[in-house]
Amino acid sequence: MSKLFIAGQVFHGAGSLEELKNIKGQKAVIVTGGSSMRKSGTLDKAIAYLTEAGIQTQVFEGVEEDPSSATCLKGAEIIQNFQPDWIIGLGGCSAIDAAKIMWVFYEYPDVEFNDMIKPFTVPVLRNKAKFIAIPSTSGTGTETTGLAVITDREKGVKYPVVSYELTPDIAIIDGEICASMPAHVTSNTGLDAMTHCVEAYVSNIDDNIADALSKGGLEIVFANLKEAVKNPNNITARQNMHDASFMAGLAFNNAWLGIVHSLSHQVGALYGIPHGAANAIFLPNVIRYNAYATERYPDLAKVIGKETTEELAQAIETLRSEVNNQSAIKEFGISREDWNKNLDFMANNALIDPCTGFNPRVPSLDELKTIYNACYEGVAYTETVIA
Ligand SMILES: [Fe+2]
Repeated sequence: MSKLFIAGQVFHGAGSLEELKNIKGQKAVIVTGGSSMRKSGTLDKAIAYLTEAGIQTQVFEGVEEDPSSATCLKGAEIIQNFQPDWIIGLGGCSAIDAAKIMWVFYEYPDVEFNDMIKPFTVPVLRNKAKFIAIPSTSGTGTETTGLAVITDREKGVKYPVVSYELTPDIAIIDGEICASMPAHVTSNTGLDAMTHCVEAYVSNIDDNIADALSKGGLEIVFANLKEAVKNPNNITARQNMHDASFMAGLAFNNAWLGIVHSLSHQVGALYGIPHGAANAIFLPNVIRYNAYATERYPDLAKVIGKETTEELAQAIETLRSEVNNQSAIKEFGISREDWNKNLDFMANNALIDPCTGFNPRVPSLDELKTIYNACYEGVAYTETVIA
């Protein structure tokens, strides 16, 4: 028997933000990022809908990219003072992920961030508040996952906090909110969603529902990402990508991910490389590496009109360049010397990343370093050439 972990209620479609009118409660804190939600008018709309529902609101603005545990503590203090019965993460995944951890701190003021790092150790939530996620980017699927990625800047490590307690009670997936998303964010986040589809499909957890969502999500990404990048006001393409991101999130919330994410978390924490951009660099070579251990990639190749594992890897490389993304880590201005200095640290952290346990092939430290080096240079991974 398997339980399907999914956001409690899911509203999707252009204009679905309006569902906030129907929320029952007293007080809500909206947690958001820089200023894009305010500038686009989405924040004001959300407040107006909540007011119509008779809910008082307070806003915590300014969650940074790759949010830190310190930011989460700061937000939790404001939430503690206001005592809401709803916490709403509105914006990119950083805002929503930070809001999830603020929620934990709100419910358990004595808990330390380090207590949550071990998977499935977040205590039982919903004693004080429930959670609504309203994403403005189409990538992480955090609106339906039990995951929040938080960075410890002092240690230079990104921690995926993993617990089904963190799966939102309500997800609102409104493509109109994404119209203001810049092209590079659209491409990075869309490539992240694509990676979730591929990693969830080949993970070592077999799940028919996750498989169907992975295939469906991948098909939608290949059919819509280029258009969403090129024509930001095409709300149909935006909604399609938003749906695909949700489908991918739902798939990996149940089948989990693999070493693309383990590798990616490290370069994100150390070098600030955007998550989706890093994933899109690692994914084709991880496919080549994993091909020795799984025969599932041709199924995904067929979804996008290809046949073989290598054709799938190459189609991803083509899409990556069509949406103007980098093809090598060195393109981010990282010197070989600096890379070599950090390689052991990154590979060691990737080896113990929670995602590694779900990869179809069990990697060694040296194999992770070999994949890292191939992706640093932007060359195809092989078992013998680069080791
Ligand atoms: Fe991801």
